[in-house]
Amino acid sequence: MTPSEPTPPGIAALEAWGLARCPLRDLRRLEPQVATLSAAFTAERPEAFVPYLDTPDALTAYALAFAPQTYARVSAALAGILARLPAWPKRTLRVLDLGCGLASASLAAKDLLGPIEPTCVDWSESALAAVKELLPEAKTLRADLRRYTPEGPYDLIIASFAVNECWPDPQAAAAALRRWADALATDAPAFILLLEPANRASVPRLHALRGLLPDLPLYAPCPHRGPCPLNPVQDGVCHDVRRFRPGRPLVLLCRRLRRTVSDVKYALLAFGRPGGPQAEGFGDPDFLRLIGPVDKGKGVLACRVCMGDGAVRRLELPTAALPTERRHALLQRQRGDCAWLDGPLDARRQVALGAIQRAADLRFPDDPPPALDDLDDFSFSI
Ligand SMILES: C[S@@+](CC[C@H](N)C(=O)[O-])C[C@H]1O[C@@H](n2cnc3c(N)ncnc32)[C@H](O)[C@@H]1O
Repeated sequence: MTPSEPTPPGIAALEAWGLARCPLRDLRRLEPQVATLSAAFTAERPEAFVPYLDTPDALTAYALAFAPQTYARVSAALAGILARLPAWPKRTLRVLDLGCGLASASLAAKDLLGPIEPTCVDWSESALAAVKELLPEAKTLRADLRRYTPEGPYDLIIASFAVNECWPDPQAAAAALRRWADALATDAPAFILLLEPANRASVPRLHALRGLLPDLPLYAPCPHRGPCPLNPVQDGVCHDVRRFRPGRPLVLLCRRLRRTVSDVKYALLAFGRPGGPQAEGFGDPDFLRLIGPVDKGKGVLACRVCMGDGAVRRLELPTAALPTERRHALLQRQRGDCAWLDGPLDARRQVALGAIQRAADLRFPDDPPPALDDLDDFSFSI
């Protein structure tokens, strides 16, 4: 969601649900709940984790302060992956939301994909009761995820901020993910999407999980199957960042708690089913993922990138040949965006022993198609 866009229906539903339980004038009442939940989500959690959504104010605080951020993370992650997969079948898509909380991941999937058949699973009875109000079409199931095997078939399985909470041990998580992969539909580019906090406790577990499931096609975050080149240089905290426009309740809660939420940060991991299609660009040495912000350098736009050949490089795009509008558009790109090297082939060079990748431009999967005038090898006759 960018600053000029209207509030998406899913976020509007979460805000309306929360404000019906705590109007704006009473928001101060939720501040202790927001602070407690926030600490619980950022700290390392004990395995026998106590259910924390079981009081009305905790649920309301979750709806107003956390669920909209889940919505933004899931929308961004899904859009990035879908742009690189074959088209999905034209039927209602079946979505399984594991550790659903208030089903904000399902709400995001619904707004992006059109009508869906959602199944929402959680062990919190009060969260599931709220899901019935927020997403009446959802089938809800109360279960402990550690003992749950989905039946399927599902086109999309999402577990947002739930896997590390259920399985601190990646081996146990990998065993669960194999069961989930068995429930993925075979007539669609179906996949599992995991989201976790972008911190030093969560991300190494996602890396471990990625290594334990080498036979499942990898759709995000890495454009390659090699070892993560960030491990030695960035504490392994590979993550995405997306701009976020918080709604009024969240702004008011954050203002008093002195927090800023002008963007959302998250770590992610997405797998297809065994034998499923590869994501476009995967393993392509001309494909890359931005792993830092795009900055202005001396005569170049520069960014750290993870390439399809498994290397981390500094990408440099000389600015002299880039129209101003294009420069602005490139500066808006964020950590986690994927793209192909673009522009004339002779401008694509590696220098400094492969530490620097040069190119004239980038082509992002969501860039509008080039205008006919820009296609120099295009000709047609009537
Ligand atoms: C941090 S919340 C995330 C909620 C939602 N997916 C989101 O991203 O906004 C974690 C959710 O997982 C649920 N959960 C944690 N452990 C669980 C378990 N063992 N079985 C079922 N649900 C569990 C919690 O009740 C909670 O709703």
